[in-house]
Amino acid sequence: MNDKKTPLWLDSAHKTEERVEALIQEMTVEECVLQLLQVRVDNVTPELLKGGVGSVILAASATAGNDAQEQSSAKQVDDLQRVAVDESRLGIPFVTGRDVIHGHNTVFPVPLGQAAAWDPELVEQGCRVSAVEASADGIHWTFSPMVDICRDPRWGRIMEGYGESPHLMSVLGAAAVRGYQTDDPSAEDAIAACAKHFAGYGAAEGGRDYNSTEITRSTLEDVYLPPFEALVEAGCLTFMSSFNEIDGVSSAANPLLLTDILRKRWGFSGFVVTDWDAVRELLNHGIAEDGAEAAEKCLNAGADMNMVDFLYGKHLASLLEEGRIKEETLRESVRRILRVKVDIGLFDRPYTGLRTVDRSSHKQLAREAAARCSVLLKNEGVLPLASTECVAVLGPMATATQELFGSWTLDGIPSEVISLLDALKEVAPERNFRYADWGDASGMDTAAVGSDCILLVLGETPSRSGEAHSVGDPMLPPGQADMLEQMLRFGKPVILLVIAGRPLVLPEAAQRCAAILYSFHPGSEGGRGLADVLVGVSEPEGRLPVTLPRSAGQIPIYHDHKPTGRPTNEYHRAPGEGGGMRLIDQPGSPLYRFGFGLGYSEFRVGIPLVCSASVEQGIMLEVEVENTGSCKGSTVVQAYTRIPVAERSQPVRRLSAFHRVRLDTGETCQVRLHLHPRELSYTHLDGEKRTDPGTVHVWVGQHCSDGTLLEVELA
Ligand code: BGC
Repeated sequence: MNDKKTPLWLDSAHKTEERVEALIQEMTVEECVLQLLQVRVDNVTPELLKGGVGSVILAASATAGNDAQEQSSAKQVDDLQRVAVDESRLGIPFVTGRDVIHGHNTVFPVPLGQAAAWDPELVEQGCRVSAVEASADGIHWTFSPMVDICRDPRWGRIMEGYGESPHLMSVLGAAAVRGYQTDDPSAEDAIAACAKHFAGYGAAEGGRDYNSTEITRSTLEDVYLPPFEALVEAGCLTFMSSFNEIDGVSSAANPLLLTDILRKRWGFSGFVVTDWDAVRELLNHGIAEDGAEAAEKCLNAGADMNMVDFLYGKHLASLLEEGRIKEETLRESVRRILRVKVDIGLFDRPYTGLRTVDRSSHKQLAREAAARCSVLLKNEGVLPLASTECVAVLGPMATATQELFGSWTLDGIPSEVISLLDALKEVAPERNFRYADWGDASGMDTAAVGSDCILLVLGETPSRSGEAHSVGDPMLPPGQADMLEQMLRFGKPVILLVIAGRPLVLPEAAQRCAAILYSFHPGSEGGRGLADVLVGVSEPEGRLPVTLPRSAGQIPIYHDHKPTGRPTNEYHRAPGEGGGMRLIDQPGSPLYRFGFGLGYSEFRVGIPLVCSASVEQGIMLEVEVENTGSCKGSTVVQAYTRIPVAERSQPVRRLSAFHRVRLDTGETCQVRLHLHPRELSYTHLDGEKRTDPGTVHVWVGQHCSDGTLLEVELA
């Protein structure tokens, strides 16, 4: 750029809209088209940079979560950016995007694990740390959070979202956006968030990745869309369209989603990026004849930025000449992208430079997160471990290091991770831990026989979950159930620790364990965090953000199912309790319910008092909570609702509010829960979503089948 006078769009004294308009006026059609392209970092050329390419994706393969990637580096980005800024006609910086999914250098538990903490503050803090670290490496924009509701543990990407409940997903997704973007997305250490995958990707049939979905309009509106709407309200700057089709239309080309709902109804003013190759995939879906038609459909539907397949670059100019797209549509997409670039401060500070980040507090937070996200499913008094005991620490995950990261860890530092076994020795050096390699059967037997109890650490490596890594049988990997059987034979208490990327169907033998602790991949400080829990330095605070089925045949199984004409409501009943059965070969209740988890203390949740109830304000409840256990601890007070009579059949219970409390032993407190009117609304037969006056059933307890029924009248 040789302009003597500073152009208006480079002058931060002007408002975003003025800057964007001034710039748009100057742009040629070719420059507009380039602005809509996102190219792979390994495909970026000086020509593209000088022409004014919109974005560079810092990934070199289609399933970055499971393939090794180059580390991101500020220097590499700055070097490319210099060409874009100094050598292009208008000096527009490109925006870099990368999958910073659950941490950057410091890796936090996978999102499903974070969800188990039921604590928006923890999610926000983790995403804040991610933003601080990622921005120092030249990353402007993360493709996170993923807020795809998932009711199927076979789907490999279940680890990447916050579980099965629209309410929990909405609250935690919004917290993630706050953490990444802060109140000031232009801050040096903030990064733009991306709500993905819009929409319905988690409903892939049979859990098979990229599969078609069957989602009715009311289920779309009431189950899959609310978390996305919550992210718009939280100010999320960008959206990513999903791969799947709904009702025959791929999301990248779905005007209902990308324009009518997202823009017109929710007022989203940021931009939409298509997922990797998704424009081209219209050909595979069979809804475009060629690349030109695919590009035409996607742009006209409202997809602004074209991730990697380059079809916008190839075809938009000629589509414009042929009148198949309008220039205003093209410019409107450019406008949306430029608006975000201005708002994140890219024009004012295009380079990252050399920044050092002090990560000491980050590691501590990751350690606390790993501990707090673990879910104690069963405990016959064996946890925390007694200090005098000799413990055999066995199983394939006991010495796992990098595997603790989980899928979608592009920039974690493997050399920083220590295993659970080493962490136990570090946390409790005076204690007696006996280890034998899991390949050495007789060594394991000897360690087991010579110990007071057995800590068996089983689970999945990260490559058994994540994108394109779904499984047909969500069981423990081959051989592990046998290993458990073998260990149970010694008659010693067995503590089963599962470290996995999904809710696994646990073998029958798990019932015979003295304790079960479940951790979704816990991140770089996972070894230490879990060791803290096992020895009692920390409490396992997790509550299940998804249902744990008894068998693969129960899938899909989730707490907010509908009642049916011959209701059994088995999910919420204990096995053996009367009523019809939906399956004759097994109970209808899951192995562990949504919202369930034990701590090291015990809590009493009283009968809630209804403070107010109205269609406009929702329901305000107050409930007394008491720590009745023998140590300080924490629980999650959860409110569930049902609309018993509606135009459309409504879920038998759905999570509508929650609050985490921490109390000393014997201490009580009053918890206020606000059930927002939107939690009491549904999509009526006329297509409108609203809250009606009338009776609402409410339960308040410590998991989804807990609590006494309360009938509340909404006036
Ligand atoms: C995934 C997205 C990801 C993108 C970029 C796609 O394959 O579905 O979630 O953000 O790749 O790596």
